[in-house]
Amino acid sequence: MKISIKKIIRAMSIIMVVIVYITTIILSKSYIQTDNIFSMNNIIVLGVLVLIAYIVSVIVSNKCVMPIKRIEKGMRLVRDGKFPDISRIRKANDIKEYKQLTDSYISMLRVIRKNTFDLNSQQSKTEIILEHMADGVIAFTTEGQVVHMNKAAMRMLNLTENEDTYDVICSKLNLNLNFDDVMYLPNYKSVEVKADIDDLSLSIVFAPFFSDELNPMGVIMIVRNITDSVKTDNVRKEFVANVSHELKTPLTSIRGYSETIMNGDLTYQEIIKFSKVINQEANRMSRLVSDLLQLSKMDYNKLSFNKTTLNTVEMLKRVCEKVRFEAEQKQHKLELICAEQMPPIYVDKDSIEQIVINILTNSIKYTPDGGLIKIYAGPVQNRVYIKVIDNGIGIPQKDLDRIFERFYRVDKARSRKMGGTGLGLSIVKEMVDGNNGTINIDSKLDEGTEVTMTFPTSKE
Ligand SMILES: Nc1ncnc2c1ncn2[C@@H]1O[C@H](COP(=O)(O)OP(=O)(O)OP(=O)(O)O)[C@@H](O)[C@H]1O
Ligand SMILES: [Mg+2]
Repeated sequence: MKISIKKIIRAMSIIMVVIVYITTIILSKSYIQTDNIFSMNNIIVLGVLVLIAYIVSVIVSNKCVMPIKRIEKGMRLVRDGKFPDISRIRKANDIKEYKQLTDSYISMLRVIRKNTFDLNSQQSKTEIILEHMADGVIAFTTEGQVVHMNKAAMRMLNLTENEDTYDVICSKLNLNLNFDDVMYLPNYKSVEVKADIDDLSLSIVFAPFFSDELNPMGVIMIVRNITDSVKTDNVRKEFVANVSHELKTPLTSIRGYSETIMNGDLTYQEIIKFSKVINQEANRMSRLVSDLLQLSKMDYNKLSFNKTTLNTVEMLKRVCEKVRFEAEQKQHKLELICAEQMPPIYVDKDSIEQIVINILTNSIKYTPDGGLIKIYAGPVQNRVYIKVIDNGIGIPQKDLDRIFERFYRVDKARSRKMGGTGLGLSIVKEMVDGNNGTINIDSKLDEGTEVTMTFPTSKE
């Protein structure tokens, strides 16, 4: 049976009143009728005294028990993650015997409140970091249940909250990796696997985590998007393969023809013919090397663009003169049409000439003999546009997106036969960017190509 302090105080008060009353009656025989101490009068007086004693005892017991009740209520609030009003608990300090208890209780509450705050802020900090991480993070229990999965992981792996076990996630990713093998990796190591999901290349690292006593607590899965580095790596590999191939082809011809010449037994005409091929191939190699050097300089920002104000019409006339011979060789007609009020452009003189020459050379190369190549120029919204239109073979729509890539050619064999390396437009793109210009290519197969560029008229 549980003892109640309140009840003890009340019972003791009543017993005390009864004892005091009976003692008083016995000691004061003359004052009260002693024959019958249980007379009606005495019982009424006793009843009134008991009632008074009861009321007093209720007040006293409440006063004694209330602080303990408040402390107990406070404890329950703490248990539920809330905090009691300390000022109310402090009221218990009125009772001397409780002062030490309430002081200790209040300081304990303060410590708990501070620790809880620290813990909560640490937890919310960790949650914010996890949610805003670019890498995906999933934590599993020792049973392989998901306990945390951040947004990046859900996005990269196309997961929903219902996919909440290690096995489900691994089967979705086609990963053949047993949970226990990951959980009990030797020497607390981690294991990395690669996976492709949609267009993404992912690196996935699994690592077990442990308690302070080194008991296994679960597995962390970290998902990293490595698409860009895989792409860069592929571009680099492709670039090296392209350069090797482009150098190998002319070198093979040079070796073959020079060996034939060295073997003798050739007529003078044959020697001249073979030497011409050797010379052509050597020129191609030297053009390739100088194009590569130019691109590499632009990659490392070593090519300086010395921008000045340039007369657009004069620049275009100069360029037309430079390519006129080449155009005439193929009986092309070259037309330059400029607006009357032609503002100057603010660009680097050498690179702008190279840009227009590369575009015009393409039109000359990829237009069947007797074609028409028109160059339009005029002002447009504080800038100057230059448009080159040909009626040549055109570029298929599917190739237009990749046309500025290094070594990209629509028809490799045809372009190579024409002496092209596939670097012309990638150099043009870099140079247009360096001059704060824009470039756009429109084309229709078998109809022709239209290249539109704009350049600033002043320092922007
Ligand atoms: N005006 C055009 N008409 C048709 N096809 C074009 C035209 N301009 C470019 N192309 C296509 O785009 C490809 C890439 O052009 P780019 O100028 O970069 O290389 P290239 O002309 O082959 O070689 P390079 O210019 O380095 O000598 C060409 O191989 C060709 O297939
Ligand atoms: Mg070209």
